[in-house]
Amino acid sequence: MAHPPPSGEPLQEFLANLIEERYPQDGLHGHLHPLRLLAVAPEFCDRYGLPESAFLWAIAFHDIARDNDDEDEAHGRAGAEELAAIHPDACTDLVEALLVQHCLSQEPSGPFAHEVAFFKDLDALDRLRFGPASDIHYVMITGDRGEWEEVFRELLACREWEEMMATVSRIL
Ligand SMILES: [Fe+2]
Ligand SMILES: [Fe+2]
Repeated sequence: MAHPPPSGEPLQEFLANLIEERYPQDGLHGHLHPLRLLAVAPEFCDRYGLPESAFLWAIAFHDIARDNDDEDEAHGRAGAEELAAIHPDACTDLVEALLVQHCLSQEPSGPFAHEVAFFKDLDALDRLRFGPASDIHYVMITGDRGEWEEVFRELLACREWEEMMATVSRIL
C-alpha cells in the first residue's frame, strides 16, 4: 500500500510526480491538465481563502479515473475511491466532495458547496486547452476571471512541470 508523502517533501511536488506517473502523456485529460491546476492552486487558494492541501489532493485525483474524453459523471467518485484506498488520511469529507461533485452537471450542494464551486471554476478555466472553441462560460467566478484566463494561456504553452513552475512564479 502507498503512503502519504514523507514529511519534509512538499505536497505539491509529491503530487506532481504522482500525476506524471498516473495520467496519460497526451490528450485533453493528459498529465499537463492536472499539472497546470497544481501549479496555480496555491495562489488560487490564497486569493480566495480556500484550503490548499485539500485542493492539491483533489486536483491530483480528480481525473485519475477518467478513461474517456466525453461527459462522464462517474469518474469523480471513482477517483475518490482510489484516493481513499491508497491515501485514506487525505480523503477527507471536503476532498471527497470536491472529487465527487467536480464532474456533476448539477449545482454544487452540501456543506462544501462553496469550495466545490471554486474547484469547478479552477478546472473549467483550463478548458482553454480545448482551443478557440472552448467555452469559458462554465466558469462561475466573475471577479478575476480574465486575469486567470491570461495565466492559463501562458501555462498552456509549457510542456514540463519545471517550466510551468517557472512561469507561475514569473506571472503571479
Ligand atoms: Fe473531471
Ligand atoms: Fe479536469
